[in-house]
Amino acid sequence: MKPILEAPFLVEMIRTTTNMYNHGWDERNGGNISLLLDGKEVAQYLDVRHVIRTIPTGFTAPELDGRYFLVTGTGKYFKNVEVAPDVNLGIVRLADSGRQADLLWGFSDGGQFTSEFPAHMMSHVARLSVDPANRVVMHCHPANLLAMTYVHDLDERAFTRTLWQMCTECIVVFPEGVNVLPWMLCGTNEIGEATAEKMKTARLVVWAQHGIYGAGKDLDETFGLIETAEKAAEIYLKIAHLPLLNTISDDAMHQLEKRFGIKARAGYLD
Ligand code: 13P
Ligand code: ZN
Repeated sequence: MKPILEAPFLVEMIRTTTNMYNHGWDERNGGNISLLLDGKEVAQYLDVRHVIRTIPTGFTAPELDGRYFLVTGTGKYFKNVEVAPDVNLGIVRLADSGRQADLLWGFSDGGQFTSEFPAHMMSHVARLSVDPANRVVMHCHPANLLAMTYVHDLDERAFTRTLWQMCTECIVVFPEGVNVLPWMLCGTNEIGEATAEKMKTARLVVWAQHGIYGAGKDLDETFGLIETAEKAAEIYLKIAHLPLLNTISDDAMHQLEKRFGIKARAGYLD
């Protein structure tokens, strides 16, 4: 059995949570990540027949039965993940149609997975249905995107177009745009279901007055997706109160589509 702390998925998770904390996106216990693992890879590091304890999930997701996830703990601080990964992270395998999570490693102080587990697991189901390569769901509280939800129209087309107009490469990084949910109570199955529905058409879902969800094939790509949207929101907040003299026109966006071989969300460009 190889040492679990040397597993590439764990090393990468520690790097990512630390980096997100350093970006100021995850104050206190803010934010959570789930990473879909390959069962065969997990078995190189853990005796997967040994279940430490079983945790009820409070939802059903038969599609995820037998799937392994590395996930951040509820109430845990991203800044502490690197110093105590086994306390702040856990590896679970879903069972009983997703109703229960078998803990195989971590949460060693008796803790459990993030309170946003429903939104994560339901989003994995949604993303896997449109892209079988999807492995990551990431949630955080980046200040500029969050601030933007107080002063910008929450219409998804309008919100997306503003972000696309803030940096040339935004449309290249998230051509499908950004979906937006109005304020909803977090940590519930309801916000989980609403997020998953939005995840069917975009990898970024803004939670108004709360934060953002990103999804992608790996931690780097998902981090980069949120990073790009957050940078655009930062530029928006720098200029929103100033007279707008220039912008990236729809004609320029169409040139970007051709140059980078991407297709903007239907109906979002004139
Ligand atoms: P957890 O500590 O349960 O992960 O919650 C943090 C959060 O960001 C809730 O939306
Ligand atoms: Zn949150």
